[in-house]
Amino acid sequence: MVAVAQTSQESLKQRLNVSGGRDLSGTLKVSGAKNSALVLMTASLLSAETVELSNVPALTDIDGMTAILESLGVHVDRISDRIRLTASTLSGSTPPYELVNSLRASFFSIGPLLGRLGHARVPLPGGCRIGARPVVEHIRGLKALGAVVNVEHGIVTASVPGSRKRLTGAQIVLDCPSVGATETLLMAAVLADGVSTIENAAHEPEVQDLANLLNTMGARVRGAGGPLITIEGVEQLHGCSNYPVIPDRIEAGTFLMAAAITRSTMVVEPVIPEHLSAVIQKLRDCGCSIDINGRAITITPGVVTAVDITTQPFPGFPTDLQAPFMALMCTAKGTSVISEKIYENRLQHVAELQRMGASIRLEGSTAIVEGVAQLSAAPVTGTDLRAAAAMVLAGLSAKGTTQVSGLKHLDRGYDDLEHKLNAVGAEVKRNIS
Ligand code: UD1
Repeated sequence: MVAVAQTSQESLKQRLNVSGGRDLSGTLKVSGAKNSALVLMTASLLSAETVELSNVPALTDIDGMTAILESLGVHVDRISDRIRLTASTLSGSTPPYELVNSLRASFFSIGPLLGRLGHARVPLPGGCRIGARPVVEHIRGLKALGAVVNVEHGIVTASVPGSRKRLTGAQIVLDCPSVGATETLLMAAVLADGVSTIENAAHEPEVQDLANLLNTMGARVRGAGGPLITIEGVEQLHGCSNYPVIPDRIEAGTFLMAAAITRSTMVVEPVIPEHLSAVIQKLRDCGCSIDINGRAITITPGVVTAVDITTQPFPGFPTDLQAPFMALMCTAKGTSVISEKIYENRLQHVAELQRMGASIRLEGSTAIVEGVAQLSAAPVTGTDLRAAAAMVLAGLSAKGTTQVSGLKHLDRGYDDLEHKLNAVGAEVKRNIS
């Protein structure tokens, strides 16, 4: 836990100096998906045996999840991109509020804890910079599975009544296709007594990745990736070795936009192209040529012209790439309309891009972006994880050296970003002031 706190403190003081105007060339390597890895780690709570994951990215969020799982009694071993998690005995303790609040995905541990132990106490994650982000869907679903849930003093306490302490299969219909609620309930239902269904489930690839891991551990999950997931409960799950985390589609999308904003031909790999269909389509619409060859994408930008996007649940355009795409549109020919439909407060990067000479008008949750001939370097702040990535992209294309602060956000979700960019010709330096 101390290590995580120190890392954040260090990130607070650091900034990236991004020299603009360099041509990039070569291959950008994509790491394992942050959002998958985090939830797969919590799935280890479901088994007394060791769960071994590979292709785990090196991120402060992964360090945070490690600290939370350790606080619950999980033994965690990490060697390079492999992580071994053994939850043979669980302490039954409550993870610290500070950790849960800084890492929303850790709240999802309430599902597997309840499924395995019959009781769980997890602090409410609270709001965050991009929006309120409630967890009502998670709680409603746990109640449908037979849990008694109380929220008091900021802590959610859930327990299964009766001597068997086992959840009961149920039909759950989500009001909105929340990724986290789908994952929480999926993990709770795999050890329940009987069959559960989750209707209006999230379709995101990370949900499919979780279902695949659970099935590898002996669960019986069908339909993940579609709107109806069916889970036949089993008595217990076993461990597994070398389960590879899927490639990070958001990091891959960020890299494609880095190529586009610098007008550089680049290869981005490994990717699962179907995870990026909406992004690839928009990049093609704005004039980039995209070649897909197995798990590699080659992007050759032409004259980048403005296109409109509206963020949507998968398979629509992901909210997590809205800020990077806006940075690209700041340099496009023409005017693009960018509508944020998932989070109520995810346009804070607009003010930062304006500091770099971008021409953007805000109308509620819509940004109208008029492309300019060139952005100009300025000191800017990444106000959240993806906003910080957008600042780096803007810096790659701007005239001069852009100083990006807010690295505590960037380091949560991008594995070694500056080294990866420098390896393809960028000049990005981390400075400690
Ligand atoms: C996950 C991702 C995050 C991504 C988001 C949307 C992880 C760790 N994080 O977050 O990077 O931006 O999906 O793709 O996987 N909502 C409700 N009630 C609820 C739950 C959610 O109204 O009970 C709303 C939220 O306020 C938000 C929308 O649903 O507007 C999407 O949230 P959700 O899918 O739950 O996002 P997360 O799982 O938290």
